[in-house]
Amino acid sequence: DWVMSSFIEQTIQEIQEKVGNKKVLCALSGGVDSSVAAVLVHKAIGKNLTCIFVDHGMLRKDEGDQVETIFRKQFDMNLIRVNAGEQFLRKLQGVTDPEKKRKIIGEGFIRTFEAESRKLGKMDFLCQGTIYPDVVESGVGNSATIKSHHNVGGLPEDVGFEGIIEPLRDLFKDEVREVGTQLGIPENLVWRQPFPGPGLAIRILGEITAEKIATLQDADAIFREEVANAGLNKKISQYFAVLTNMRSVGVMGDGRTYDYTVALRGVATSDFMTADWARIPYDVLEKSSERIINEVKGVNRVVYDITSKPPATIEWE
Ligand code: XMP
Repeated sequence: DWVMSSFIEQTIQEIQEKVGNKKVLCALSGGVDSSVAAVLVHKAIGKNLTCIFVDHGMLRKDEGDQVETIFRKQFDMNLIRVNAGEQFLRKLQGVTDPEKKRKIIGEGFIRTFEAESRKLGKMDFLCQGTIYPDVVESGVGNSATIKSHHNVGGLPEDVGFEGIIEPLRDLFKDEVREVGTQLGIPENLVWRQPFPGPGLAIRILGEITAEKIATLQDADAIFREEVANAGLNKKISQYFAVLTNMRSVGVMGDGRTYDYTVALRGVATSDFMTADWARIPYDVLEKSSERIINEVKGVNRVVYDITSKPPATIEWE
């Protein structure tokens, strides 16, 4: 696509003119937008870009390692990965309220990022993965806040940057993916489904523990693998597993079990404001359920969420 390749060339040139020999800092989440923005800036200024990736320990299975591999090994970028899992878990101990979880993670994220960036000394510009729909959404007076999302405009202002670099400000999501593909970012990252900032914390109902995170990571990885095996991964807008805080009785071998229920969720939507539950074929659900029960300890029941939004939301918290 020549439109996007000329966009890339032009944007790289603009970044070079704006930044010169100065230094740029980027908060990398591993999501599509921040990844594409970072690679674009890296193409323009190379090692004068430093990325900080705060791993809050509630990412999907192996995700932190994947981000590290792609950006450090493949792109040879200056990447700092902060493994803050234990720290976040401590702060979340005993917390069950969804909005409190969001607040703790949002604030913890900013504090961790600030602390890490301070170690780097003076950085001149901050790079952000803002895309056009973010600009529109945060500009218009949003109606009632149902959930406090923290992925827009949540970064530190007191660090004293000379300016902000938002290379994707005019692009829609599909254009961002196109740019990402042309820049050589792996397919599985470019086509990554949306993942909430607080991560698995809002997919574990009730209190979060290290064991529950591991359980959910395993169940979720199986479900995603089966959806991909069925060739549905680009067709379903968002799909994931939820660890409920409900336990129920089951039977395994000749023993009684009393274990957790995992809920699977899949939605079809164009804007995430409303959504229909995805009609995932029964055999895909069956295979996922079977594998989750057999492979994930502590789970003895799997259910599929057949609620649309509204009245339900996409996430369970
Ligand atoms: P809901 O659950 O409100 O989700 O129907 C709509 C979309 O937003 C995502 N989401 C979040 N993203 N921080 C985020 O960055 C959050 O706290 C958050 N809560 C929900 C959700 O995954 C879906 O794509």
